[in-house]
Amino acid sequence: MTKRLKRLLPCACLLCAGIVYLMVQNRWIQVEELALAHANIPAEYDGCRIAHISDTHLPRNRANVRKTIQLTKKLKPDLIVMTGDLVHSYSDMESCGFAELCAGLSEIAGVYAIKAKHDTWNDTEAWDQIALDNGVILSERLDLGGFTVLLSHDPKYFGRGEADLMLAGHIHGGQIRIPFLGGLLSPDLTFFPDYTSGLYETPEGELLVVSRGIGNSVIPIRVNNRPHLPVIILKSIGEEQA
Ligand SMILES: [Fe+2]
Repeated sequence: MTKRLKRLLPCACLLCAGIVYLMVQNRWIQVEELALAHANIPAEYDGCRIAHISDTHLPRNRANVRKTIQLTKKLKPDLIVMTGDLVHSYSDMESCGFAELCAGLSEIAGVYAIKAKHDTWNDTEAWDQIALDNGVILSERLDLGGFTVLLSHDPKYFGRGEADLMLAGHIHGGQIRIPFLGGLLSPDLTFFPDYTSGLYETPEGELLVVSRGIGNSVIPIRVNNRPHLPVIILKSIGEEQA
């Protein structure tokens, strides 16, 4: 082996390891269970499990569709919500995998979904039809016995008193997650955005859950930021507080 080859070998190994790491990061979906207690959750919804799927950006992340369905099934949710950017812009609605995603999830539990910016840069009539034909209810609001849930793609609207719980995505975890600092960059190029992953609460008790998303958009790289499938478990505390 020549001296030059010997010098290049560690670089090549490092490059290969980096590529494998990025591929694994993009496909290794992390489930996060979040127990939420709130005075407005009635006793009949105590223990209700909500699987939260966001930002699949199909067909770019098509490999994650089957995994998402299989994982969701194992989680035994009572409800499933999808908070937009499910289909990436200018995609073929018939072949992008959206029908497969909707049909697979609808077999598990009731599915509620909203469109976001990327979805609307497609044939939106076809988007709606595929969702409806495959059992998805298009609604941004859920009323769970008086506990109100708002599906809002972008978490920036959090804290306006519109619902007890907001479910959002959009930020993709900030693409690169830096220990102790959080997500680096939002899709609209804001550094260190406020809401990037998991649970947030205002002093008034409004709740927000942000999914880091299942797929990627323009930036195909995630670092320390696995695709994310939060499962919200509702806990009723109404009677304790009364
Ligand atoms: Fe997105």
